[in-house]
Amino acid sequence: MFSATPIEAASKAELYAELAGQARGLLAGERDRVANAANFAALVWHALPDINWCGFYFFDGKELVVGPFQGKPACIRIALGKGVCGTAAATRQTQVVEDVHAFAGHIACDSASNSEIVVPLFDGAQLIGVWDVDSPRFARFDADDRAGMEALCAIFVESLR
Ligand code: SME
Repeated sequence: MFSATPIEAASKAELYAELAGQARGLLAGERDRVANAANFAALVWHALPDINWCGFYFFDGKELVVGPFQGKPACIRIALGKGVCGTAAATRQTQVVEDVHAFAGHIACDSASNSEIVVPLFDGAQLIGVWDVDSPRFARFDADDRAGMEALCAIFVESLR
């Protein structure tokens, strides 16, 4: 059985490379979206410092609906174009927000959140949903986190095929 072990990494790039290897192993041979999303969220939750929420919102054909996550209970439905999540989905661009309080339309689920990264998930042109990570630390996420999270999300999306 897989066990998430704390990763000793010298740099963020190294941390994400190790995490990507663990994610590949964890999702290998399984295509179920809920199962893979739940394990993916648990893996990241235990590996990354300074986060207070991580999880998925899946597109139901109309809006984003909360999926497997770690952290406090969250808002259930988010319209496309609304909040950081809806903006990532509508623009198809990863959103790295240094200060969520300065982001127009930010949806506050956990008052501890001060910065956030949201990666849109697409299978080709088809919107699957978004991957969302919140931090209590301002400017917690940088270009290395963006690259690392996008690589991790590609492994998740690939696992569903
Ligand atoms: N802050 C997000 C909402 C989801 S929670 O952070 C879990 C947003 O503005 O879309």
